[in-house]
This record gives sequence, structure tokens and C-alpha cells, in this order.
Amino acid sequence: MRIVIVKSIKEVVLEAVDFVFKEIWKKPNLVLGLATGKTMIPFYKELVLAYKNSKIDFSEIKSFNLDEYLGFNEDDKKSLRYFMDINLFNKINIKKENIHFLNGSAKNIELECRNYEKEIKKTGGIDLQILGIGRNGHIGFNEPGSSFKSKTRKVKLSDTTLRDNKVKIKYALTMGLATIMQAKKIILLANGKHKADAIAAAIRGNVNEKVPASILKKHKDATFIIDKYAASKL
Ligand code: F6R
Repeated sequence: MRIVIVKSIKEVVLEAVDFVFKEIWKKPNLVLGLATGKTMIPFYKELVLAYKNSKIDFSEIKSFNLDEYLGFNEDDKKSLRYFMDINLFNKINIKKENIHFLNGSAKNIELECRNYEKEIKKTGGIDLQILGIGRNGHIGFNEPGSSFKSKTRKVKLSDTTLRDNKVKIKYALTMGLATIMQAKKIILLANGKHKADAIAAAIRGNVNEKVPASILKKHKDATFIIDKYAASKL
């Protein structure tokens, strides 16, 4: 695992955009795994800027988002899909048919999750997965205790996540930890003191299902890009 420690969130997102830029330059039809959350807002802003400056072309890119709240789809303003639309998708030239999202309001949730796994496989797998990290060490919505073998499925959100995300929805669909681990490359972005414990537990602690992000130590090409505050307990 590679760890890049920089001074500020600004530098975290610049490093991450540079990473994405290089991968897309090598493979214009890159399959990107995407996350939502507060950390991603400045990152997507910078990605949009790179697109506007003609640095990155998303016309051949395919995307798979990590998660969606149960019962929600793109018509809901509180959905993660809506978050992606307003922060990224509506502002770049990604093709609508190349955007893959879990439908939280699907009639058959198990089938929806199974099909998502199949879709990922059909594209040849995720080339670059972008991750954030929860204060409790979650990645995607794989909360502490999630099996390292988990695939895309319905999960119950922890109280910490409900509080941090200011949502009342208790369940979500998420790619599993095994799904995430199949990505060829992974970058995890984190900033701020409130992430320091989770970062320390993921990097310094044992690989342990109590700390979902610790599984990334077993990945052959994972990079943590974090600011000095998130790194303060390493
Ligand atoms: C959401 C996701 C989550 C977030 C994490 C951090 O799609 O993947 O794992 O990355 O909860 O969220 P923020 O950035 O809001 O602290």
C-alpha cells in the first residue's frame, strides 16, 4: 500500500485528479469506480475543471458508483445518484448509458445486486476505484464487521454513518469488500482530524473485519492520499 501525505484537502484532490488523469491518458475507456460524500465534493469540482480545461475527456469512460440508499433512485434529491448528477455527471461529457448505478428502489434488490456484479464483470472489471473512508473505517457502505468476502448487497447503516450523512434511511445497497478488492487500482482520499483514528486503524492496525478499510493492505495497488490532519495518528 502506498501512502501519500500532503498538506491540505486542496493538495489531496490535486493529487487524486492527477492520478485519474494519468490513468485515463493510458486508457481512454477506463472503468471508474466512484464514491459520494463530503470528501468527494472538492475532488469532483477539480475533475470538472480538468474537463473544462480539456485535460480530461470522459466520452469513453464507464462508471460504477459504490452505493445507493435503499428505496432511492435518481428522481430523489436525497439519492446518491442525484449527488453524482449535480456534482459530476451533469458537468462532464460522460455518456448517460455509461453510468452504472445501483437502483435502491428496484423491486428485487437481490437481483439488482447480482446484476450489478455481472455488469461490472461484463465491462472487464473496475480499473480505478476511488474511495473515501468513514470515521468508523467503512468503505462504500461496508460497515465494521462486514465480511471480507462480501459482494454487492443490502446493508444496515451504522449509527455513526446515519449521523455523519444526516440521513434517516437505515439501509443501503453497496458494493461488497470483495467487489472493491477486485478493482485493479484503488485510491482512497481522506482529510481532516475526524478521519485520523480510521486512517490509523486501517494502516497501522491488523487486517481485521472490524476495520473494513484495513482490507486495502492486501490490495496490490492501493494508494491512500491523505492530508496531514488525517495522517496525524499514524
Ligand atoms: C459513499 C462512500 C462512503 C464515504 C465515506 C466518507 O459513497 O463510499 O464510504 O466515502 O462515508 O464520507 P465523507 O467524505 O462524507 O466523510
